[in-house]
Amino acid sequence: MILVTGGTGLVGSYLLYDLINKNYPVRAIKRQSSNLQWVRDVFEFLSDDHSLFQKIEWVNGDILDIFSLEEAMQGVTDVYHSAATVSFVPRERRSIIKNNIEGTANIVNAALEKNIRKLCHVSSIAALGNNPEGKFIDEKTVWVPSNKNTAYRISKYESELEVWRGIAEGLKAVIVNPSIILGITNPAGQSGRLIHSIYKNSAFYTTGINGYIGVRDVSRAMIGLMESDINNERFILSAENLSYKELFSMIAKSFLKKEPHIRIPSFMLEVGWRVEKIRSFLFGNKPVITKSMARNAVNQYHYNGSKIKDYLDFEYTPMPEVVTEMCNIIRLMR
Ligand SMILES: NC(=O)c1ccc[n+]([C@@H]2O[C@H](COP(=O)([O-])OP(=O)(O)OC[C@H]3O[C@@H](n4cnc5c(N)ncnc54)[C@H](OP(=O)(O)O)[C@@H]3O)[C@@H](O)[C@H]2O)c1
Repeated sequence: MILVTGGTGLVGSYLLYDLINKNYPVRAIKRQSSNLQWVRDVFEFLSDDHSLFQKIEWVNGDILDIFSLEEAMQGVTDVYHSAATVSFVPRERRSIIKNNIEGTANIVNAALEKNIRKLCHVSSIAALGNNPEGKFIDEKTVWVPSNKNTAYRISKYESELEVWRGIAEGLKAVIVNPSIILGITNPAGQSGRLIHSIYKNSAFYTTGINGYIGVRDVSRAMIGLMESDINNERFILSAENLSYKELFSMIAKSFLKKEPHIRIPSFMLEVGWRVEKIRSFLFGNKPVITKSMARNAVNQYHYNGSKIKDYLDFEYTPMPEVVTEMCNIIRLMR
């Protein structure tokens, strides 16, 4: 039996589909508040076989509740840990740190307790160090402590440390560090909001560069690593480094919209996040742009995602293909 955490999220829903499609028996953790409709929708987009979704064994659980995890891991051999709070909102700092670090520590402890065969932990490029602009970041790039690191970055770095601690205590594990993941996406999630804003404001772009990967590739790589005899390694998963202009152009083209042609200057981003901070304070809703998002929009990061190809028979799907598929489906959903 395989256990998946974060099954209602972007990565988890595709992972559940791929595991079920490969005929693995799969159990997935959901919270009382979780909405399964999004997972159902993903299964429907990907297959006409309506029986596939029914094959998931859902159990109530929370990564902050060690007892629920121990119960969920009864009879389980493999654990895929994808649950986390993905947020860049400063006022959510405490819950991001607690959920991601303590939640991962609980997963590691329960996996050790239950003698799990192997764990796949979904980390992030956020858990890696930053190289000076232009230099490629790889699995060995050293993390640099700094007060500029966001709560999310710190939480992903420290939750990965919990996995390395588990490895030192005898756990077998693989760690994946995906760059920004694109896929058919829940409009309310982080990636969904990004695509929606590009759909609405496709004229604008910023000067940043970042790594990207399709969600199907993330799921395929995770399963490939778990099926292999590779242990105790981390892998950056990143298909291509694209400027925001290149990415936004691909998305705009797919939506048959005008390509971006107005560069947003840095000072406007600086004004933007401050205005959003006040708006969000006054009205209590999430800011559209935060300080870290504004800074990231102009930073230029290049990731080297080639290590996985040395270990597995693995090729990345080209980003134009990923973007076209994603936008076609989003258009159908509107
Ligand atoms: N999205 C990206 O671009 C990206 C890039 C690199 C790495 N990652 C990493 O990939 C993983 C998955 O990200 P995602 O984009 O799929 O996130 P997502 O769509 O926001 O989904 C997060 C998932 O975590 C679950 N979760 C959160 N806290 C939980 C808790 N205390 N107990 C149980 N479940 C909990 C959520 O369940 P509910 O439905 O109950 O809320 C949801 O299923 C995360 O570890 C993230 O850091 C994401």
